[in-house]
Amino acid sequence: MVDAARFLADLHRLRDFGRTGTGVIRPAYSAPDIAGRDWLAGRMVEAGLVPRFDAMGNLFGLAGGRSLLLGSHSDTQPTGGWLDGALGVIAALEVARAAREAGGPAISVVSFQDEEGRFGGTTGSAVWSGTLTLAEADLVADTDGVTLAEARRVLGDRVGPDVDAGQFTGFIELHIEQGPALDAAGAQIGVVSDIVGYREMTVTLSGQQNHAGTTPMALRRDAFQGLSRFAVRLEDRLRNVVTPQSVWTIGHVTVAPNAASIVPGQVRFSVQWRDGDSDRLARMRGVIEAVLAEVAGEIGLGLEIGPVLMLEPVAMDRALRGRLEAAAEAVAPGRWRVLPSGALHDATNVARLMPVAMLFVPSIGGISHAFEEDTAEADLVAGLRVLARAAGVA
Ligand code: GLV
Ligand code: MN
Ligand code: MN
Repeated sequence: MVDAARFLADLHRLRDFGRTGTGVIRPAYSAPDIAGRDWLAGRMVEAGLVPRFDAMGNLFGLAGGRSLLLGSHSDTQPTGGWLDGALGVIAALEVARAAREAGGPAISVVSFQDEEGRFGGTTGSAVWSGTLTLAEADLVADTDGVTLAEARRVLGDRVGPDVDAGQFTGFIELHIEQGPALDAAGAQIGVVSDIVGYREMTVTLSGQQNHAGTTPMALRRDAFQGLSRFAVRLEDRLRNVVTPQSVWTIGHVTVAPNAASIVPGQVRFSVQWRDGDSDRLARMRGVIEAVLAEVAGEIGLGLEIGPVLMLEPVAMDRALRGRLEAAAEAVAPGRWRVLPSGALHDATNVARLMPVAMLFVPSIGGISHAFEEDTAEADLVAGLRVLARAAGVA
């Protein structure tokens, strides 16, 4: 039987690694991330699992033999919440521990590395699943110019051989919803139908750096004006292409030289868009690139578009999803829903290797990727119990 108090104690212990106010700062390969993973490896040993780091720093706790794999990620956003990823990892640990105490079934645990995308997005599971080679991933640099190859040196002699996916019969990931649907509906559990697809690229607009007092407005080639015109026009132009579920975000911006009395010479920014339909993602890309070219032409800016990162939409496995639905009805009768995931998850990559399914618990106020992120304790425990039941550990 799962032990709710032991689960909550471990969840709060992991929160201490990188704790900052009510939130957590534990990005991939940072000192708190590695310390948290070392602590987790120790808890795995105590639970009778064999801990194993792969070259990316994904941490597996292996049950030995054929087993179901449960887990999520324990890295966070640069300023993240305490439950995003951590909940699924610690719930997996508790279910595996309870299963061993009960004499079965065999349950393994994983904490993937860099789900939050210091080096792209869902990087650890992308490499493990073969979506991306380690050599390709190693070349990616974070926003400070540090490459993955450099960052993962911190793993040192923790790294063991690759972990064979053939030993796992399937993967279930418990996660917070990170959106408003369950909270607004008063539901306790969400069973995920599918995970959205996403695209992301870095754009550079280059103009002419100049004096902010003497350069007439008509003569400026202001890179920041290019970005602002793009952002406003994009909203209008996408209107006929998108649905209310489509989203797009300009989330990371660097303005150079970023000084009050200088007309900005260059802006570099991320453009990310998500939707459940690959064709719509392609149509959105067409609109985004057309508006960028238009705006650059109007203001006389250079335009450079970097490689496009892609994850396709993924449907959850029917059989595993059925187990989650039955478990949700048993634990929270009438208080569960089926819903799609607008957030990305490691499950997308793992679906290349084995059947996958996901369940959600509510995020209070729909807030996530923020220090305010939280979930009612009763809902955290309900999520643990549904996961355990679906895994055959009632
Ligand atoms: C991952 O957290 C994402 O959806 O960006
Ligand atoms: Mn997450
Ligand atoms: Mn996240």
